[in-house]
Amino acid sequence: MRVHVLGAAAGGGFPQWNCNCPNCDGLRKGTLRATARTQSSIAVSGEGTDWVLFNASPDILAQIRAFPALQPARALRDTGIKSVVLMDGQIDHTTGLLMLREGKPLELYCTDMVREDMTTGNPLFNILGHYCGVNWHRLPIEAGNRFDVVGGQHLEFTSVALKSKAPPYSPHRDNPHEGDNVGMRIRDTRTGRSVFYAPGLGEIEPHLKPYLEQADCVMVDGTFWTDDEMVQLGISKKRARDIGHLPQSGPGGMIEVLRALPAKRKILIHINNTNPILDEDSPQRAELARAGIEVAFDGMDIEI
Ligand code: MLT
Ligand code: MN
Ligand code: ZN
Repeated sequence: MRVHVLGAAAGGGFPQWNCNCPNCDGLRKGTLRATARTQSSIAVSGEGTDWVLFNASPDILAQIRAFPALQPARALRDTGIKSVVLMDGQIDHTTGLLMLREGKPLELYCTDMVREDMTTGNPLFNILGHYCGVNWHRLPIEAGNRFDVVGGQHLEFTSVALKSKAPPYSPHRDNPHEGDNVGMRIRDTRTGRSVFYAPGLGEIEPHLKPYLEQADCVMVDGTFWTDDEMVQLGISKKRARDIGHLPQSGPGGMIEVLRALPAKRKILIHINNTNPILDEDSPQRAELARAGIEVAFDGMDIEI
């Protein structure tokens, strides 16, 4: 199985258009050793030609251009993207769907809750109905429920509900439901190897342990280094945990969680532009390296 990181940043990307935090400013001025990143999305392929897209970022057109495997050019109108799976209904994971409107009906997988949001608060499915149309497939969150995905030859998918919040626009923003946010095990049926992907992970609930422990590669929430990162910078009053992201540092943080796992590759993805790990010379980045944790970047390509 091949996993290609199309975008490794959280909402806003890096640098974010209106942001002059030390990271965004340093990157623009060239005073920081760091690489720009587009917003959160990966593509996965079992056989190498057909791709399953996880999330559709606002940067999707640039991401497709940067990864020629997604445009195999077999016909006048063509794409390597066979289906799209949404991990949640957040703006950074869904607005790219509108950019795919010129194509065939989208084979789209998401939970009942995300579908509800995408037909009410953020009615992209309704809008797309006037263009390519959406062929919705229910993403099951019942424990251990494996399913197949169009274009996912040799791959087996299992989604698992994660504790988080619905997006700000959701009619049930303050009333979390199972399925607002999911994690995904993707397993290659030929090799038995798997990746566990969860770009938004607020809490390590007991039911997640087997998914994390059995994965050969974990690609998980790398949004914030500290819980109060945005508060300290004076950017926002929101803390990481309030918006469904487990910070990396400190007791019970993501580093501690990852350290205990046997996975060969431990990768942080969905990194917010304020996170000091984006600075390749930072002590925080060095701490990750010592713990054997990688930081995803656009174009990162992984064979599992
Ligand atoms: C999040 O996951 O919390 C976001 O990246 C929010 C956003 O899209 O602005
Ligand atoms: Mn996000
Ligand atoms: Zn910034």
